[in-house]
Amino acid sequence: MGEDLFWAITGGGGASFGVVLSFLFKLVHVPPKVTYFSLEKTSEEEIINVADKWFQIADKLDPDLFIRMGFNVINNTEGNKTISATFPSLFLGNTTSLVSLMDKSFPELGLQESDCVEMSWVDSTLVYSGFPVGTPREALLSRSQQSERQQNFKIKSDFLKNPISNQGMKSIFKRMKELRSQSLTFSPLGGRMNEISEFAKPFPHREGNLALLQYQTYWEESGTEAANEYIEDTRLMHEYMTPYVSKNPREAFLNYRDLDIGVNHNGKNSYEEGKVYGVKYWKEVNFNKLVMVKSRVDPGNFFRNEQGVPTLESDDLLVKSLLDTPYIY
Ligand SMILES: *[C@@H]1O[C@H](CO)[C@@H](O)[C@H](O)[C@H]1NC(C)=O
Ligand SMILES: *[C@@H]1O[C@H](CO)[C@@H](O)[C@H](O)[C@H]1NC(C)=O
Ligand SMILES: *[C@@H]1O[C@H](CO)[C@@H](O)[C@H](O)[C@H]1NC(C)=O
Repeated sequence: MGEDLFWAITGGGGASFGVVLSFLFKLVHVPPKVTYFSLEKTSEEEIINVADKWFQIADKLDPDLFIRMGFNVINNTEGNKTISATFPSLFLGNTTSLVSLMDKSFPELGLQESDCVEMSWVDSTLVYSGFPVGTPREALLSRSQQSERQQNFKIKSDFLKNPISNQGMKSIFKRMKELRSQSLTFSPLGGRMNEISEFAKPFPHREGNLALLQYQTYWEESGTEAANEYIEDTRLMHEYMTPYVSKNPREAFLNYRDLDIGVNHNGKNSYEEGKVYGVKYWKEVNFNKLVMVKSRVDPGNFFRNEQGVPTLESDDLLVKSLLDTPYIY
């Protein structure tokens, strides 16, 4: 299909380029058993201490170990709002090796052998997405929502370049408690992600990034009034995080489609409109290369959406200048 088009659909958002009928995947090796654990902490003092260590090591841990860090607001026994932290984690190895690795690199988390569950990697994908341990693999074939409750949600994203101070975390927790139903999840980067050039694929958030930050707000009330209130709270939380996250551009993750960061009307300003969200999702060089590929394979912009890759007229001066830009990838 052409190297450039293949490059574009492996990270540029398939919806801008066509319909993929089949894909051949090159698998990576995983051991027959992996180890899963998820620890929860509810003392705010302990959470601050553990988070402090997490920010220092999460992107530098053994490449076979992935430790996510999520924060929720819960009601404590007195009915007051308090923070709960969870650490859902996956290790490509057995319990013995994991516990000894954690004793050395992250003793603050206090992992015990009894917290660990060994299973096949396929089964771990179910547990990791919220199914109970022991769920039959057939669940992977189910296309219905796993929760019985029909929940509404709003998701936003950020990229974290530097650790957040203990004082910073205290104020973030305070802000979370002032708002409705806010969750924050930090997914560590580093490892294999750092070994790939930011131009090798459209996804550019590689070396220099500590974590991907996900804002989640869930609600059950129906109607647009409730929705607007919860969505507004997510925006306020995102705004509050400004000093802690990436800037110029404030980067975002394509898979958490967020119309707050720009909308394309697919008219004559579509390049300028696309650039607003495009540089956040792909950064400038990759965005411009996506526009070039798009202009060649879909000049009529048939595959369009509110945040698609825009098309430029082939005789447009911008395309000429983009074509002259040397790309390193
Ligand atoms: C916490 O308490 C408040 C006020 O009583 C209630 O509205 C809210 O639903 C509770 N939240 C949870 C997660 O239980
Ligand atoms: C719970 O909240 C009440 C009212 O704001 C406050 O007086 C009380 O000290 C809080 N209790 C705890 C354990 O934080
Ligand atoms: C755990 O894995 C290590 C490293 O692969 C291996 O040396 C050890 O024998 C394993 N232990 C058990 C109990 O399987």
